[in-house]
Amino acid sequence: MIETVPVIDIAELDNPASLDAIDRACRDWGFFQVTGHGIEPALLRNLFDVSREFFAQPAEEKRRIRRDADNPWGYYDRELTKNRQDWKEIYDFGPADGDQLKPRWPGGYLRLRFEPVVRAYYANCRSLAARLLAAMASNLGVAPEHLAGGFDDAHTSFLRLNYYPRCMAKAGGERPFGVGEHTDSGALTLLLQDDQPGLEVFRGGRWHLVEPRQDALVINIGDMIQVWSNDRYRATLHRVVTNPSRDRYSVPFFLNPSYDTTYAPLPTTITPGCPARYRPIEWREFRTLRAAGDYADIGEEIQITHYRT
Ligand code: OGA
Ligand code: NI
Repeated sequence: MIETVPVIDIAELDNPASLDAIDRACRDWGFFQVTGHGIEPALLRNLFDVSREFFAQPAEEKRRIRRDADNPWGYYDRELTKNRQDWKEIYDFGPADGDQLKPRWPGGYLRLRFEPVVRAYYANCRSLAARLLAAMASNLGVAPEHLAGGFDDAHTSFLRLNYYPRCMAKAGGERPFGVGEHTDSGALTLLLQDDQPGLEVFRGGRWHLVEPRQDALVINIGDMIQVWSNDRYRATLHRVVTNPSRDRYSVPFFLNPSYDTTYAPLPTTITPGCPARYRPIEWREFRTLRAAGDYADIGEEIQITHYRT
């Protein structure tokens, strides 16, 4: 039997067959690929083009727009997952917030192409993520708009351009991971990957490759939906392996709520035989503790299981 991450056509997302396929994928895998998502293929191509151009710039050019402790948007070339160095470079774009949080843009002519494409793709992801979240709400027995509350203007969703340079194994050593194994901490992730394999998900005691498909986005549920669903859906462990001869590019969009959002298992998931498995969690607290682990070795990184009842 071939076991692979399900591919679901969501051109008619509201029909019961699509909803059912999504429910099954969320229970079995926590991951699925969607076709029929409605985002223009030309936009996806342009996004990879500007991403390649961005990372191809000289290091000092990229470092001019480095993120810092006050403003996380911009370029970064080292990140820690579970206290291990990841083999990647990233660029993050998220909403402006007052004077402090501002997008950082590359300079010169690149910005003229880069900014509109990044903004357009971000807007497309926001609406697709909202549709998927509504579908999952229905599947969890609440009204489609029930989960939407935290994702209005003050949401903290962001887009990340990932560049995983090719990586030769060190003599006698292991090749580092592009991203070490982890779960995504927010609600949902929409991932665009190029044609270079690398993303793997853990299921049934082993790692499965998520086959690159030009026509699809990869969707995975994060810790927040795991909590809402009271463990009916699991935020699945995943990682990125590096390749000795080929670079890889990917673009995740992380759907995250506003900082003052508190989440807990939905009443529809709580039954006499299945009490709430998590206490209420404030996104600000969880996000802040998790982000601290991305920058520095702070000992054991916070995991959602710390909130189990
Ligand atoms: C992530 C992630 C996968 C990829 O950035 O959280 O899991 O293929 N990325 O880049
Ligand atoms: Ni991830």
